[in-house]
Amino acid sequence: MNRTTQLESKTAFGEVFTDHMILAEWQEDRGWTDIQVLPFGDLHLSPSATVLHYGQAVFEGLKAYRQPDDSIALFRPEHNAARLAASARRLAMPELPTALFLRAVTALVSVDHRWVPSQDGHTLYVRPFLLGNEGRLGVGPARRATFHVIASPSGDYFANAQAGLRLFVSREFSRAGVGGTGAAKCGGNYAASLLPQREAQSRGCHQVLYSVERDGRRFVDECGTMNIFAVRDDGRLLTPELGTVLDGVTRRAVLELAAGRGMSPLETHIELESFLVDCAEGRITEVFATGTAATLAPVTHLVDGSQEVAISGADAGPVTVALREELLGIQFGTLPDAHGWLLPVPTK
Ligand code: COI
Repeated sequence: MNRTTQLESKTAFGEVFTDHMILAEWQEDRGWTDIQVLPFGDLHLSPSATVLHYGQAVFEGLKAYRQPDDSIALFRPEHNAARLAASARRLAMPELPTALFLRAVTALVSVDHRWVPSQDGHTLYVRPFLLGNEGRLGVGPARRATFHVIASPSGDYFANAQAGLRLFVSREFSRAGVGGTGAAKCGGNYAASLLPQREAQSRGCHQVLYSVERDGRRFVDECGTMNIFAVRDDGRLLTPELGTVLDGVTRRAVLELAAGRGMSPLETHIELESFLVDCAEGRITEVFATGTAATLAPVTHLVDGSQEVAISGADAGPVTVALREELLGIQFGTLPDAHGWLLPVPTK
């Protein structure tokens, strides 16, 4: 049965799920079990499970891409495995070995391979997640955890993102502080983003541009669920350095693709006020956002209080377009995978 045909007309992000899910369990005294492939269904959790009270929940996002020869590939899934382990460490949760992570993700995509869309630009979004589920109200690291993988065929994360994203500059809310959990992909970071996100939407914006305070100054951090990049008029590509931001798999690929184009990309602290002035005065010529779900999307407007700054003539700039085409070309197999970034998934 090919499920993609019936779904292609209604693949809003993350609302439809495939037939199966993966489960692996961990106990402090026994370590990890191997994976089980189960029918997609509800979870059984104690009402006293750690995740429900103290938020021990970390997750990942990656995509399976239909290739021109109809085969299926994942994009650099070992980075997702490493990042999940780093997120787990930050929340005092057990680290899932990379081999188990890869086996789990591959097994789900393989068993549900008919759900990988063939429609242009569509993918199977794969969501691994790890929960602390010891039934205990004392605050402390769970001595039991469960790891699951689910998957959802999906199209664009933002409707019409290529026309340009509008970012709402928030000075009231931060998504991260130095020493906090900004670099971890944990559910709590996303819960804390919902209120500012609602404010951004009420101002006609797609996402919030967050900044982080260091020594009394504010520095550009992330934009909502995505990393942010800026192109300067000297051709230099800048992005906030790691520390409080997520170590994005797309961010990393873009840095490597830009280096391959001789752009000398720079990971650095970007002061918010000079970033805004440089955008307004044209010293920053392009801004774009990256993330697995959203891939690479131009940022065309910054809304800062009553001021609105249009970037790159309110259009996607040439560097943004070129990097996006190269990235998507590699992911969907229409350009050579010169870096060996694709992992084929068996379908038989
Ligand atoms: C992703 O880009 O994979 C994300 O995690 C963003 C969001 C859907 C949570």
